[in-house]
Amino acid sequence: MGIEQTLVLIKPDGLKKSLTGNILTRLSETRLEIAGARIVHVNRELAEEHYALLKDQPFFEELIKYIMGEFHERRKVMALVYHGEAAIQKVRTICGATNPEEADPRSIRGAYGRITTSGIYENAIHASANPEEAEREVRLWFSPEELVYHIYAVKEAEAKREKKLFWA
Ligand code: PPS
Repeated sequence: MGIEQTLVLIKPDGLKKSLTGNILTRLSETRLEIAGARIVHVNRELAEEHYALLKDQPFFEELIKYIMGEFHERRKVMALVYHGEAAIQKVRTICGATNPEEADPRSIRGAYGRITTSGIYENAIHASANPEEAEREVRLWFSPEELVYHIYAVKEAEAKREKKLFWA
């Protein structure tokens, strides 16, 4: 297993319910390190890319709207990369089962998740499922410069002239 990185998203319901602190406290029980953290506005392109493997599922459109914050007036998520020994499994265990009704009540999803009356999971948190997904997701949500440790290959290149925001 060795040193891994895994992507965690605190979803719009978690932010709306002011659960960020509680969820980070639970995640700290893993004794993993945070290698990166961002508050991200999720546009449709990012949402569809993140859940690309699920595009044929009947709930895909609802899943996209949920992660974009359309159900919670919070158009953002908190994205984190946890780093350390067996990070993927450690984080998944503390998150609990994907279905909040099946999740251990002491897990994050068991404590804070729900299924809406229309059958959509609002499970407060996303965590990468396996090493392949973790690599794909970390690379999707973070640039190498936003992480303090690199376990995936990076390369140095001249940046093209691009427009950036500076403090005025
Ligand atoms: S997992 O965790 O990837 O093994 O779970 P999986 O069962 O494959 O589900 C993948 C994501 O789809 C979400 N999901 C649903 N959303 C809404 N409604 C229904 N019925 C539903 N079933 C599954 C599930 O929450 C997973 O997203 P994340 O962001 O990982 O929680």
